[in-house]
Parts: sequence; structure tokens; C-alpha cells
Amino acid sequence: MTKEIILTGDRPTGKLHIGHYLGSLKNRVELQNSGNYEPYIMIADTQALTDNARNPAKIRNSLIEVALDYLAVGLDPTKSTIFVQSQIPALFELTAYYLDLVSVARLERNPTVKAEIQQKGFGESLPAGFLIYPVSQAADITAFKATVVPVGDDQEPMLEQTREVVRAFNNAYETAVLVEPKGYFPPKGQGRLPGLDGNQKMSKSLNNAIYLSDSEEELQQKVMKMFTDPNHIHVQDPGHVEGNTVFTYLDVFDDDQARVRELKDQYRAGGLGDVKIKQYLFEVLNKKLTPIRERREEFAKDPAAVYAMLQDGSRKANEVANQTLAEVRAAIGFNYFG
Ligand code: TRP
Repeated sequence: MTKEIILTGDRPTGKLHIGHYLGSLKNRVELQNSGNYEPYIMIADTQALTDNARNPAKIRNSLIEVALDYLAVGLDPTKSTIFVQSQIPALFELTAYYLDLVSVARLERNPTVKAEIQQKGFGESLPAGFLIYPVSQAADITAFKATVVPVGDDQEPMLEQTREVVRAFNNAYETAVLVEPKGYFPPKGQGRLPGLDGNQKMSKSLNNAIYLSDSEEELQQKVMKMFTDPNHIHVQDPGHVEGNTVFTYLDVFDDDQARVRELKDQYRAGGLGDVKIKQYLFEVLNKKLTPIRERREEFAKDPAAVYAMLQDGSRKANEVANQTLAEVRAAIGFNYFG
């Protein structure tokens, strides 16, 4: 039986946080360990450069952090090919061919990119490379003929655009070389973790994230200043659990959901203080994060071995991507010399 191929990845613009874990890393590790897939996991440094062209040091430094986060959560280079986007030249050539099949208007309509452009406030200085990054993402996915792409909910428009590129290419060159992917998303309600401050999204730029690499002390401090119910002032006051970040986290991280229901009842009735419930959440999170933190510290002792792992993964990835590129050139008719 041939295994379905997975391609996914992250931009290295900082360390990964528990929102990333819930939104996609957890799925990737589970899929990897099921043994039913052949996973390719890419650190998307080229994509990260599209809005950091003048700050490559940030990307360079984040590359190893993301690699360590991957190893820490259980991505295993003997089961998954972990590689670096910039080291795979075929991806650039594929991107160039695909760009001719996508209109500027279509790129401007991509809702995820549109929202990012707004949020980053580029105005007239929007880099062309940023606008077209969904097309380079189509190259990433199709170079490996991936059918399964485990990502966060916000990536669905990217997959839609990839499928359009695949259809346009296969149609234009009367071929079946490219394969349409589907997304693989987190369970309902777990796709988006709010930030510590109660903001809709956990993100580095909002400074409201818990990182996989946070120490026990950092974790405790962060949990203790989490947003709860602003009207829950005295221990005996009845409190709200809806929109209360502490309970949102317990909903998704506590394996003992019967206990969470009990705690919610107590909190609603009054008599359960914020400090106590936060201490409980800290213990739940710390139990999950301790093994990750410990594995991370182990791998961090030998950065050279991590780079060697990435180099090896990139070599394997190049073999696969170059094969697809040869087929793509032949489909266009650019195989003049055999
Ligand atoms: N866009 C992803 C992110 O924001 C990274 C990425 C690049 C990716 N190419 C991909 C994800 C292909 C899935 C498939 O981090």
C-alpha cells in the first residue's frame, strides 16, 4: 500500500506556542505516529522572508528554535522528513510557473492574505513576494504530491488556492502531474486558542502567548496574570466561565473533563477564587509541557546535530521535489534536452 503524503510547515519568525501545538503540531505528531502517512515537514524560511526581507537574522535565529520545538513535541526525523524551504531550489521554479496561471485579482482576494496585509499595515509598500506567498505554498505542497496538509483553520484559503493552481496547471498542459490536497484540521473548538489577555488569537506579535519552551516559572507567571472574569472580584462572588480564558484552556488541555465541569459549577456559584483555579490550570499545563520542555532541553544541547538533521531532511526533500519539477517541465514542454 502506498502511503498518503503529508506536507506542512511553519514560518520561522519566533518560537512556537501552545496555540500552534493545539492548532497543528498535535495532529502532525498523531498522523506521523499512525504509520499511515509519509510526512514532509518544512520550515518555511523563504515565506518568512516575504515580510522580513531586511531582518534575516530573525529568521535565521528562529530556524533552530522551530526545529527544536518540532523535535520536542515528538516529530521524529526517522518517521518525518524535516527540511528547510530555502534549500529546495525546485520550489522557486515551480512557483514561477504557477504564477503565470494565477491572476493578481485572485491573489488580492485571498482572505487570509488580505487580513494579514491589513493587520501588518503595508499600504503602498506591500512586497510582491508577500502577495504571492500562497502560490509558493502551492509549490511546497505539489512538489511532494501531498494529499494531506495538517494546518490551522486559517489555512483553508491557501488550500483552496492550491487546488485551483493544480486544476489550472493540469488543464493548461493536459496532464495529471499535480495532485489536489485537502486540509487536515484540529477538532471543532480547538482550532483557535485565545491569548493570555483574552484576545481572540494567541500570537507572538500580541505578546500574549505561552511558548513550548517557557520555563516552569514563566508558565506560572503567565497563567497567574491570565484574563478571567473582570467582575469576579471576591472569592465568594459568582463568576462567568464563558469567555473566561482559564476555563477555555481547561476545556482543551485538561484530560479530566468531569473535573472541569465540577470546577465550572463551583466558579459559577461563587466560592472558587481566581488564584486557586489558575493554580489548577498551571498544574494541568505544566504536566503537559514538562516532557516537551525536557526533550527540548536535551536536543538544544547539540545544535550541530539539529542542523545535520535538517540538512539530511533537505537532501531527501530535494530528491522528491526535483523529480516533480522534471515532470512539470516535461508537461510544459520545457524538456528540450531529454
Ligand atoms: N503558511 C504557513 C505559516 O503561516 C507555512 C507554510 C508554508 C505552509 N508553506 C506551507 C503550511 C505549505 C502548509 C503547507 O506558517
